[in-house]
Amino acid sequence: MNYIKVDLDRQLGSIHPHIFGGFAEHLGRCFYGGIYEPGSALADEHGFRKDVLEALSRLQMPIVRYPGGNFVSGYRWMDGIGPVEARPARPELAWETIETNHFGTNEFIQFCRKIKTEPYFVVNCGDGDMREARDWVEYCNSSQETALVKLRRQHGFDAPHNVKYWGIGNEVDGEWQIGYKTPEEYARAYKEFAKVMRWVDPSIKLLASAVSNWSAEFVERTQLLLDQASDFIDYLAIHWYVGNPENDFANYMTVSEFFDERIGVAEGMLKAMKVQRNIQRPISIAVDEWNVWYRARGETLAERNNLEEVYNLEDALVVAMHFNAFIRHCQTVKMANIAQIVNVIAPIFTSPDGLFLQTIFYPFELYSRTCGNIALDPFWKGDTFSAGKHTALRTLDVSASLDEAKKSVVIFVVNRSQTDALETTISLDSGFFAGKVQAHVINGSDIKATNSFNQPNQVGVKTAVLTAERSRLNYTFEPHSVTALECQID
Ligand code: AHR
Repeated sequence: MNYIKVDLDRQLGSIHPHIFGGFAEHLGRCFYGGIYEPGSALADEHGFRKDVLEALSRLQMPIVRYPGGNFVSGYRWMDGIGPVEARPARPELAWETIETNHFGTNEFIQFCRKIKTEPYFVVNCGDGDMREARDWVEYCNSSQETALVKLRRQHGFDAPHNVKYWGIGNEVDGEWQIGYKTPEEYARAYKEFAKVMRWVDPSIKLLASAVSNWSAEFVERTQLLLDQASDFIDYLAIHWYVGNPENDFANYMTVSEFFDERIGVAEGMLKAMKVQRNIQRPISIAVDEWNVWYRARGETLAERNNLEEVYNLEDALVVAMHFNAFIRHCQTVKMANIAQIVNVIAPIFTSPDGLFLQTIFYPFELYSRTCGNIALDPFWKGDTFSAGKHTALRTLDVSASLDEAKKSVVIFVVNRSQTDALETTISLDSGFFAGKVQAHVINGSDIKATNSFNQPNQVGVKTAVLTAERSRLNYTFEPHSVTALECQID
């Protein structure tokens, strides 16, 4: 028997909606042949695929990071503005292709407006310089009578784009990055870039590229960054990708510990430096690239197959566990961006004629649609499992949210058992269930079930309506499932 206790008074803090963010890079078919396909019968008058916009809108992403990724470390943003026919095609070194620059800053802003999301730009801190970075802020956000503002107006955008979130560099700690930087080089570059970008627009929020290379000297790197530039840092950005290369389901399901460990490490470094340097300003954590990515890897782009992973049900469980971790760490994780959003390691997969929704689409949609604004601190116990280096992990992985205005509690549960339906008693403290409970369940015939053009509904979400007693609900979680119990409360 399993027990989950949810006490409405045990509140962890507010959940920032930006944890449901996305990331779109100039890479493979993310933009060209995905989001943007001028001339397609499925495109609107601006060249955006209407079916893709509709699917993305369902995910309700409040923020999308752009334009990379590794791509940004060789990107010249000025190549991507002005008349399309005059834009230069360039060799693209990160992914070994040619970038036509037919899609650029203003197209991305239009895209954001269409899906009602906020842009988050990353500047080139690889082979780019601080002038280029500050010019981009000016072009996007200024309304002074300057040459760059006149240029934006000439390009048809009279009002400033007001891009609030700016990252300085991508994965600068990795040798694979164009313009890799030692900890000293990055701390210095970060501060100087940040200074001039803020002088152009003091209202912007800045993200430092902290850790993506977890086997390098990341403690020293983060320490140096905070030591030298904490006045200019609003977020420490960290990245990770996970996978199941050993094809060991139980071990894959222990990934929740990995998330807690990684976030805990970043929290610890921040806390330690705040005390040591008496840093008073708030600095949050942004997990601004995360996802499952292990199949479409390889040395060459062909071997990587444009990073077009096909996801299965177990990956959907892992995506749900990411959100459980972000909710449980809501005090520090104020932004997270699934990498990526269309075709490239993404929840949406297109062909010239249509699209299908990958398995991971469903947990993203379910969490972003139902999650409340306050994280609760649920207690749970019951069945356990052991795998890899972990023993006696609770088979259920749980988080919970509250929305006081809507009088609603949502309990999110991943059942990590491949075989067992888990009977569970759920009790509510400091409040009562009122009326019906909606149980939204993501599942499929087995853990390897995938969606495809031919079989688009192997994994999806089903909703049942239940009745709870005043403060108790008995529910059986299906094996290998994600469940959101959406409860009205008194
Ligand atoms: O998202 C794919 C790639 O993964 C990004 O370009 C890079 O930042 C990361 O290594």
